[in-house]
Amino acid sequence: MAYNIIECSNEVDFGAKARLAFCKAIRGLNGLPNVILPTGNTPAPFFQALKDSKVPITPFQYLQLDEYLGLPEDDEILFKNWLDRDVLSPLGITHRMAFNSAADPASEIQRIRDWYNHFRRVDVAVLGIGKNGHVGFNEPGSAFNSRARVAEMSDETWEANNKYWDREVPKKIITLGITELKLASTTLLLARGEEKADILYEAFYGEMTTEIPASYLQLQRNVVIIADKNALGRFPK
Ligand code: GLP
Repeated sequence: MAYNIIECSNEVDFGAKARLAFCKAIRGLNGLPNVILPTGNTPAPFFQALKDSKVPITPFQYLQLDEYLGLPEDDEILFKNWLDRDVLSPLGITHRMAFNSAADPASEIQRIRDWYNHFRRVDVAVLGIGKNGHVGFNEPGSAFNSRARVAEMSDETWEANNKYWDREVPKKIITLGITELKLASTTLLLARGEEKADILYEAFYGEMTTEIPASYLQLQRNVVIIADKNALGRFPK
């Protein structure tokens, strides 16, 4: 299989190894690297390592992965605001291709699709994986040729998202499709914890199926799985 695995022993190790893999992937490219970053609990140690490092980060352009739909632009729970507070502003990343949660959904989707049609360049996609195999908000059933679109979270994902904020988040979302994710020259898939062990195994060793959206990675170039021992629990030794 065409992917590398980086096994991590604890949170600090995870952050350090994810940072190294990320810096390697964005170094030495022509122009400003285009980078998709995820939200969620999984990437927290990675973001911390980026902020703690004394080595200045190569500037990059942040590309938004997914977002709640229909909230005011200053709502603290918007993913782009979460990332702004936690990562982008502390790192001084000013170039951003973010989504407008409050815009007319049809024109916002058109704007996003036009952007990807025009630039067709994603240098690195950093992704998490949902317990049902979702990537971004590409829930089970998402076609491997799906594009940026408005969609709905599954009940399970919605409940997981409510836990981030202790409030009910919108069920409707904007997500990049698998088509845009497939543009990535390098994909760093992050996973932590035993609760991700089964789905991580299914995504890479099971059937490639739209029921497990992350299984598109089986045919993707340059995939690096960065995971702790618990998440890799079912991988062959
Ligand atoms: C969320 C996000 C994803 C994220 C995933 C896993 O719903 N839309 O981008 O990767 O679920 O989240 P966590 O890392 O908190 O398990």
